[in-house]
Amino acid sequence: MKLLTAVAGLVVAVESAALAPLGSQFQNAPQSVLSLGESNPSKPPNILFVITDDQDLGLDSISYTPLIEKHLRQKGTFFRNHFVTTALCCPSRVSLWTGRQAHNTNVTDVNPPYGGYPKFVERGFNDNFLPVWLQEAGYDTYYTGKLFNAHTVENYHSPHVNGFNGSDFLMDPYTYSYMNSTYQRHKEAPVSYEGRHTTDVITEKALGFLDDALDGERPFFVAVAPVAPHSNVDPRSIEKGKVFMTAPIPLERHAHLFQDVKVPRTPNFNPDEPSGASWIRNLPQQNQSQIDYNDHFYRSRLRALQGVDELVDSLVSRLEESGQLDNTYIIYTSDNGFHIGQHRLPPGKTCGFEEDIRVPLFIRGPGVPEGYVQESVTTHIDLAPTIFNLAGIPPRSDFDGTAIPVVPNFGGARHEHVTVEFWGRAVMEGIHSEIGPGGSTMIANNTYKSVRLLGEGYNLYYSVWCNNDHELYDLSVSHHMEDIYVFICPANKLLDGSLSIAQPVSPSNQEDGPLLLGRSLTQTINRLDALLLVLKSCQGVTCIDPWNVLHPEESVRSLRDALSKEHDLFYQVQPRVSFDWCDAGYVIEAEGPQEPLTSRYGVSWDVWV
Ligand SMILES: *[C@@H]1O[C@H](CO)[C@@H](O)[C@H](O)[C@H]1NC(C)=O
Ligand SMILES: *[C@@H]1O[C@H](CO)[C@@H](O)[C@H](O)[C@H]1NC(C)=O
Ligand SMILES: *[C@@H]1O[C@H](CO)[C@@H](O)[C@H](O)[C@H]1NC(C)=O
Ligand SMILES: *[C@@H]1O[C@H](CO)[C@@H](O)[C@H](O)[C@H]1NC(C)=O
Ligand SMILES: *[C@@H]1O[C@H](CO)[C@@H](O)[C@H](O)[C@H]1NC(C)=O
Repeated sequence: MKLLTAVAGLVVAVESAALAPLGSQFQNAPQSVLSLGESNPSKPPNILFVITDDQDLGLDSISYTPLIEKHLRQKGTFFRNHFVTTALCCPSRVSLWTGRQAHNTNVTDVNPPYGGYPKFVERGFNDNFLPVWLQEAGYDTYYTGKLFNAHTVENYHSPHVNGFNGSDFLMDPYTYSYMNSTYQRHKEAPVSYEGRHTTDVITEKALGFLDDALDGERPFFVAVAPVAPHSNVDPRSIEKGKVFMTAPIPLERHAHLFQDVKVPRTPNFNPDEPSGASWIRNLPQQNQSQIDYNDHFYRSRLRALQGVDELVDSLVSRLEESGQLDNTYIIYTSDNGFHIGQHRLPPGKTCGFEEDIRVPLFIRGPGVPEGYVQESVTTHIDLAPTIFNLAGIPPRSDFDGTAIPVVPNFGGARHEHVTVEFWGRAVMEGIHSEIGPGGSTMIANNTYKSVRLLGEGYNLYYSVWCNNDHELYDLSVSHHMEDIYVFICPANKLLDGSLSIAQPVSPSNQEDGPLLLGRSLTQTINRLDALLLVLKSCQGVTCIDPWNVLHPEESVRSLRDALSKEHDLFYQVQPRVSFDWCDAGYVIEAEGPQEPLTSRYGVSWDVWV
């Protein structure tokens, strides 16, 4: 379809991006690192994957786990710019285990109709996700802990989860009940562990599966998904229809720790002026009892993480005793981040702030540099491709991500963006969580699309909400600081929260106001909006190299390239990201324009200006 768009008296030839062939610009696909694991070329490496629940990077949780520090951070690589793409357990986990953005899984919530285990099954992923693929590639696969939400004592067998040689899943509604969890093993009936701490239970199960895996002939993938430091949930509150989440419960031997520790008082902690957009901007400042509770909540999370720290230590020791440690990649991460008190928020996730979307990622294993800090932007969507790469399996074309650079001189394609997306309700946690309408702990219309962009000379977060609020933050203010939590979003400096970008601007005022890479905010926003338009409906390679959708025959590969003056008109005429209404799920009709215009013929746009 060829469109003729009249702009400012000029006629510009543009073509719908839908017809543009998806680029084959990734000729230099990531090389497998297998060749580096020279010790045993005939046997692919093992993979041990540990995923915690709701563990932040931004609130500095990783400074309180000395054993993880010793085994993973010092013996491996810390990916300090690692992000999740949807800051909520179930969507994030489904994205992780399928290698797809949530808009391509349509598992966007924790419960049906938009999410949860039933939605995962309905979408066909039970036959089409990482453990199934790994088994096909010759791996023995094991899993214990939380897999997805709404995976319950009622539905665990209809159908059973595919793809695992051994499994022992935490079951809803007891998943987050630290002292009364229920696990469901293989195809057996669920078993209650009333009175035992869930981290002790999972440690036994994880070591058991690791032993099984070590006994096998084939390489293994063992995933361990403890519930800490997620909030504790009393199942009786779920029965009453009101999920009530309270501070996590540590093992008794850790309950006394960190008595003087408090939530880091970054400038965005309970600020005097409201911050953020949409409903967040209306939050009242928290009073002293709420602040004290938040500090208690924070300490409880750090204490609950001590059990995970010891779990990792046990797993590493077992691998070491077996002689397999040197042929095993250990990956440690979390399903999403967490905020406590920033922007006046009660404890929780579901937001696009740094605290919510940045999570720890450590990888150690054959060829992975020790004590190294990797700066490249990486996301959870990249993890399935990364595991494929480590296992020597060619990438799938439906992967929305690309293998991350785990070894030096890694030849893969890199990206500077993170596609952040969310649909539905924000969820508040803790005893001061009933701030929604009618005392609800949920707030509707928490639907937004964002792009997080980190490149040379820029560090941005641009967001469009379903009520069409816009946000743009320059997060570079503290780029030169070493402390990771200070590095993260210290003030969330709002460049211009109320800027209306619906109107094309006239050239005369284009370079007024603050500059970014020498260009005005308007010019920058024009680019960011077009980029977001591509990313919010991208698939496969277009998620990895979105600039190529906009410039199929040009050499634009970054915001910096796109900001070139010759592209001003092209970005000015783009349709804008917008919503027609706020929906609770991925309802395309509510989500405004889907396709950008694309410069098809390599025409230099300045000839038109
Ligand atoms: C694990 O499951 C796969 C697929 O069913 C099978 O081929 C393999 O033999 C199993 N491994 C073990 C140790 O039973
Ligand atoms: C623990 O969970 C079981 C179900 O597995 C339930 O019957 C029991 O009442 C629970 N105990 C407590 C103290 O909540
Ligand atoms: C702080 O606010 C909470 C929630 O509105 C309220 O329950 C509590 O009494 C307040 N505490 C103080 C000290 O004002
Ligand atoms: C949420 O969005 C819907 C649809 O856009 C709107 O009708 C409703 O008033 C909004 N609710 C709130 C609490 O803003
Ligand atoms: C996603 O799932 C919801 C709920 O089933 C459905 O209404 C919606 O149309 C789906 N979205 C897409 C893009 O398929």
